[in-house]
This record gives sequence, C-alpha cells and structure tokens, in this order.
Amino acid sequence: MARPQILKLGKALLFVCALLLFSKQGKADEGMWLPMHVKNYMEVMRQKGCLLSAEDIYSLNKASLKDAIVHFGGFCTGELVSSQGLVFTNHHCGYDAIASLSSPEHNYLDSGYWAPSFEKELPAEGLFVTFLVRMEDVTDRVRYAKDKDEAIKRIVQEVESEGKYTARVTPILYEHQYILWVYQTFEDVRFVGTPPASIGKFGGDTDNWMWPRHTGDFSVFRVYADANNEPAAYSPDNKPYQPKHFLPISLAGISPGDFTMIMGFPARTTRYLPLPAMEFKVREQYPALKSMFAAMLRIMERDMAANIRVKLALASTQARFANSEKYYQGVMEAMRDAGIWEQRQAFESGLEAWAANQEGDMKTVLKDFRALYESAQSSMMQGLAIRLVQSLNPVLARGKTLYPLYRKLNEGKDEEAQALADQLKKRLERSFENDQPATYQKVLGALLKQYKFSVPAERIPNWMNSKEVAKLKTPEGGDRYQAMANHIYDASVLATQEKLMRFLSKPSAKDLEKDPGFVLAKDLVKLETEIEAATAYFNSREEQLLHLWMEAWMKYQPNRNFYPDANSTLRLTYGTVEAYDPRDAVEYSATTSYEGLLEKEIPGDHEFDLPATLKSLLKKRDFGPYANGSGDLQVNFLSNNDITGGNSGSPVINAKGQLVGIAFDGNWESMAGDIVFDPRYKRTISADIRYVLFVMDKLGGAQRLLDELTIVKN
Ligand code: ARG
Repeated sequence: MARPQILKLGKALLFVCALLLFSKQGKADEGMWLPMHVKNYMEVMRQKGCLLSAEDIYSLNKASLKDAIVHFGGFCTGELVSSQGLVFTNHHCGYDAIASLSSPEHNYLDSGYWAPSFEKELPAEGLFVTFLVRMEDVTDRVRYAKDKDEAIKRIVQEVESEGKYTARVTPILYEHQYILWVYQTFEDVRFVGTPPASIGKFGGDTDNWMWPRHTGDFSVFRVYADANNEPAAYSPDNKPYQPKHFLPISLAGISPGDFTMIMGFPARTTRYLPLPAMEFKVREQYPALKSMFAAMLRIMERDMAANIRVKLALASTQARFANSEKYYQGVMEAMRDAGIWEQRQAFESGLEAWAANQEGDMKTVLKDFRALYESAQSSMMQGLAIRLVQSLNPVLARGKTLYPLYRKLNEGKDEEAQALADQLKKRLERSFENDQPATYQKVLGALLKQYKFSVPAERIPNWMNSKEVAKLKTPEGGDRYQAMANHIYDASVLATQEKLMRFLSKPSAKDLEKDPGFVLAKDLVKLETEIEAATAYFNSREEQLLHLWMEAWMKYQPNRNFYPDANSTLRLTYGTVEAYDPRDAVEYSATTSYEGLLEKEIPGDHEFDLPATLKSLLKKRDFGPYANGSGDLQVNFLSNNDITGGNSGSPVINAKGQLVGIAFDGNWESMAGDIVFDPRYKRTISADIRYVLFVMDKLGGAQRLLDELTIVKN
C-alpha cells in the first residue's frame, strides 16, 4: 500500500485524535440503519439493554415492529397502536389535515377535537399512510446493468405487476448500492383527535427546535380498509384496518440510561459531502432561503393575527416555512463553530493525500470537485432565487403552470391547447383553495424586491424594466416592487379564480401577452431555462464526482460501517435516554415535567397560553396512573437517537418493544446534525407517552380510544 507523505499523515493523525476526543465526551449513536440489516447491530443494541430479537424488529416470516410503522402522508411517521388501525403521530404532522378540516365555527386547531364515535372520525382528504412490506438489496441487478434506469424499471415492474404493492428502488451512498422498497399504501385515513394547539404546539415557533421543551406534540388518526382488510379509496363502508402488528404502550416511563429505539422515515441528510458542497449549502443556499422565507412569513403572520379565516387558510404554510426558516438559522449558527470545519478539513486533507496515490480519477477527485463548485456557484444561486419567486407566490406559480398552454396557443395548435386548458382547470382550481390574495399580494412585492437585490442585472425579468412598470405609481407606504405586485393583482387573470377559469374556457395567446402576471411569469421561465442550461453540466458532473468521492472515502476507511444518508425510507436508530450540557456552566436534564408548563405559561399569548382545564389539573397534581414514581407528570424527554425531519411522529420504543414516547423534534445545539454528526449534542426530543395519555384521558375524555390501546403497567 502506498504511503502518504509525512506532513499529510500528521494531519490525518490529528484528525484521529480529534475523533477519539470527540467520541469520549458523548455517547450518541450515529446511524440511521437499514432495518433489513438489523442483525448486524443486535449485539450493540443488546449491550444497551434491548431485549428484542432481530426477528422481532424486522421479519419477512412473522409480524414484526416494522409492521406497526407507517410513512404518514409521505412527510412524517406514524405508529399503529391498536388492533383497529389507530395511529399516533405528531400534532405538527396532522396540522395540515386538522387546519383543512377546521372552520371558524369548528376550529379544531384552537379547541382540539376527540371523535366521540367511529362515525365522527373525519375523512382527511388526500392523506395516506404507507407500510413497508419488505426491502431488498438489488445492487447486483442494477450496478452491472448496461442501462441502470432500465434495470430499475424492470425491478419495479416485477413487483407492481402483481397488482398488490408499489415499489421503489433508491440509490444509496451516491449510487454505490441500490435498495428495493416494497410498499402498501392506504388512502382512507381519518382524523380522530387532537389536543388544542395550546398543548400540541405549546411554545410555538419560539420553543421550536429547542430544549427544555413542554409540547404535547401528538394527534390521532385511523386507517380504514375495505371488507377484506385491503387498501381502498374512502368509502363510508370501509372498516378500521387490522394491522399485522401494533405497539403496546408502557406506563413504566423512562429514565436516563434506558434503551430507546426509533423507527421512522427520516427525509434527508447529507453527511458525506465534501467541503465545497458543505460550504455552499451552509454559507450560500441557507442564508438565501432563510431571507426569502422570512420576507414572506412576517407578512403572513401579521395578517393571520388579524383575521381567523386568514389564520386557518395559511396556518399550515406558515408552520412549514417558519419551521424551515428556524432550521436554516440553526444550521448556520451551529456551523459557525470553527472546530467543525477544521476537523472536516483535516479529514479531507488526509483522504486527499491517500487518494493522490490511488489509480485513475480518484487521484484528483477533490480538486475536481472544488473547481466544479467554483465554476457553477453563482449560477446555482441565481437558479435558486428564480425558483423561489416562482414558487412562493401563487400568481407566478400559476403563470408557470400556464406556460405550456401559451406555447401551444402560439404554435397555433388550438385543439391541443383547449384540451390542455381543460386539464389545467382542476389543478389551477385547487391552487385557490387556501389562497389569500390580499396577503399574497404583499408577499409578491416583498419577493420581487428581495429577488432584485440577490441577482445580477441580466437576471432581472424584462417586465420589471418595462415602460409599463416605469409608469406605475408607487403606493403610499410602499415601494416600486409593491407597485408591481399591486398592478399584477389588479390586472392579471392569474389572481382570481373566476377570471382564470373564464380564460381557460377560451384561452388566447394575445390575452396572455397583455397580462402582466403572465408576462412576468414568462420572463422567469425564460430565465430559468437559461440557468438550467448553464448548470446542466454541473449537475451531471457533480453526480459523477460524488460517486467517486464516496468510493474513495469507503476505501480510505475500509473498516467503517457506512449507513446511507436519509432518503425518506424506513430506518432504525438505537440509543439511550440521555441529557446533555449545551455550553459552559449549563447542564440540562433529560426530562421535563408539568412544572415547566406552569412556569412558561403566558396567559393570552398565542404560543404560551395554557387551557384552563389543563392548568387546574396540573395545579391539583391530578395525574392519575400517568404520574411517575415521585407523583410528577413528565412531559418531554431526550434520547441520543439519530433522527431528522420526516422522523416526526416516530415511536420511541423501549427494550421490550413497547411505546414510551413520540419523537417530535431535535435540539438547537445539534442543528448541524444533518450535515455533521456531533455525539456530544445530537438529541431527539419526544413527548412522554404518559403525558399523551394524560391529555387524551383527563382533558379529551377520550375513554373510547384509551380502551382500544394495550396499556401495560411495567
Ligand atoms: N421542528 C420540528 C420538525 O422539524 C417541527 C416542529 C413543529 N412545531 C412548530 N412550533 N413549528 O420536525
């Protein structure tokens, strides 16, 4: 084996020392493992206290834990907790469905809801849950195929042609392996119950991503199936689904050091990026995303506070973007830690020195990667800015949707155009469902301004420099960007459902060419096309280089067990209940209790108000069987499991396979965790299942549901 130069070796050694130092301080277990590989880490799990067998967790021969876990709506996780298809997930996962089912008269967000009977469980349109039936490593069938896409298509077809399941093949570790996932999806999902947001979102955006925490972040749904217990579209005749497995619930509670396992569908991590890509993400993309989102959010929040209809219509969008805004902020702050960069730099220098002595393209992979990023960064950022204005305002988004229709009209293909227009009607109609034009008009002004100042002159849409725009009068208290937005909302067919539908009944290119909303959208499509051409090489080349880089990394550390980055597929992470010390002189506990709720309460505040009934129960310490050994009610707890967004709603499972908590968040100090894992800080925040049951029982009076659960005392 070739030897690295002494100097580089010194650096590599430094890194190894740093690693050792690192791992001594914390015990968090990095890794979002593939469930089918569970055998490989059973021993570590047993050492941590796990009493389950590999077959209990993932089995093709019998019901196992994985059969109680669902991908909830494709963006969260849920767990089956009864023989009648009852599902627990987070409040913030049910949020969109709950908001959609709410009205000012029946405001389930503010007041909560507990269905008194099966009949009163409310169909959540568009919501679905997906079970993993099985998974398989299909690397050998794909890797050596002449046409990889063809090979993947064939594998998917083999499964789907049976007509029972859907299949997906996902590349992992930058296309070094391929995994087949076989799924079963249920589309009749009904909303069963939720605490009011003052419990389910207690602490609001202020406490979001933070510890100590006191949020009852849970909601309850039910899966329905046809008479044969098979998936079916909604029908009043459907029956509660009988799952292969559901989780019993433990009242024994958790203490520091206890084994915890989490299974769920983490959406995305990028833990194997080379430095230039990491820097680009954190120093370029995230600040841009954050400031665009912020511009939109502050306007929305003002209007939401003033009007209940606006609040319900925009609640889900606001929550999603506010969560992301704070996420970007958190990652940026966490990544200010110079140590992170130094360690990564040392690691890469070591790897680069080693690679220099390897064969072929691997020699220069990092150098090539740096050059690629240097050449394309600014175009990539312009592309991001364009896509953001296009998507964050409904008028411009509709304009983009209409663009193919405009082309057909222009080409004189009138019949095809009319057919397309008819097709587009439904989709565009839907875009008006939660529209709040008065708010989005202001949002558009803010976005255009932000856009103007984040791109070079050649990326300004022509319309913004047109005579038509030059003539617009600046509104009082506004600016010229608001004038543009006002003009668009006055004059464009894209701003009102009625006008747009009328246009689609008799579409004409001439009308579109006079429509300021469409003209601006068209300019943006043109700019987008230019940017796509400018970045096409980057995209394909980056893929190649990442593949090569990953290969180098795996050869460089041949004894390391590489788990794949999160990609919205089922994963397992094991660990223990564990506190952490966030900074000098500060120590956190691993659990919070009801006292914190009372301490944080701010009567009348939209984030920290407490329901009167909850307050009086807490003051009386009326906790029933849900109290811990000292008669206290525990609310949230920390464990060192490795999770990320998408895991929201995941079950926290104890050594015996029982449900002890519902995971709902991460902590501020570990915000860099999707990019670099730091065992000292990386924690999962979960709602203690005893608090969940307490709320259902004592506040919700949901005895009917509690009777369905299998509750074990120890
Ligand atoms: N930070 C949580 C996550 O990304 C979402 C929490 C939602 N709560 C809120 N206050 N916005 O999974």
